[in-house]
Amino acid sequence: MARRNKIYEGKAKILYEGPEPGTLVQYFKDDATAFNAEKHDVIDGKGVLNNRLSEYFMSGLNNIGVPTHFIRRLNMREQLIRAVEIIPLEVVVRNVAAGSISKRLGIEEGTALPRPIVEFYFKDDKLGDPLVSEEHILAFGWATHQDLDDMVALALRVNDFMSGVMLGVGIKLVDFKIEIGRVYDGDFQRLIVADEISPDSCRLWDMKTGKKLDKDVFRRDLGNLSDAYTEVARRLGVMPNAA
Ligand code: C5P
Repeated sequence: MARRNKIYEGKAKILYEGPEPGTLVQYFKDDATAFNAEKHDVIDGKGVLNNRLSEYFMSGLNNIGVPTHFIRRLNMREQLIRAVEIIPLEVVVRNVAAGSISKRLGIEEGTALPRPIVEFYFKDDKLGDPLVSEEHILAFGWATHQDLDDMVALALRVNDFMSGVMLGVGIKLVDFKIEIGRVYDGDFQRLIVADEISPDSCRLWDMKTGKKLDKDVFRRDLGNLSDAYTEVARRLGVMPNAA
């Protein structure tokens, strides 16, 4: 058997060439990193949980007409995805103040925001993914006016869907990050949700206790990360056999 062609290896995932043109295989690793990889650990089973959770969220989005790169899950750690041209921006949506917005603007963590706030960060590990404005994005040509409108609309639709799903299982969606990619149909370009949606890229708080069920457990040494992700999966009925 021929060895698969590795296209890219990131901190938590590997991309391999897919079986058909225009597809890739996305492999979820057990590695957890934070603070731009200054903190690193291997959490047994995290990749399996994130593969299943990302499948759950992305297929749910596909079903309601929010386009994503997800095609189908292949096995415990891999999913088949559409190849996209990633826009070099991390799109963050915040419902409640936490993390960097609390630090930057001095807003106490847990304060409800007046409306969902969409922010853009330039994807560059060396620079620590700095916050950028629409002015920067347009001036440096990372995206057009139309792309910006489409990205905000996509991000807000993902927020509505994810907030509702999490509310249904007693979890508050505090914030999340998505990545967006371009796909081409003939002369037309479309933007679709790419990368992953998982507790690695969201803040999820139990609505009753405030307990954190996301990567902050790892970032802030609050306990067992795999237990937190398993709790999210269990409530959603994803991997019902998970302990
Ligand atoms: O750190 P900050 O408060 O800006 O993070 C906002 C949201 O984006 C959090 O849910 C965090 O997990 C996510 N995020 C991410 N990848 C990054 C930066 C933030 O998934 N590189």
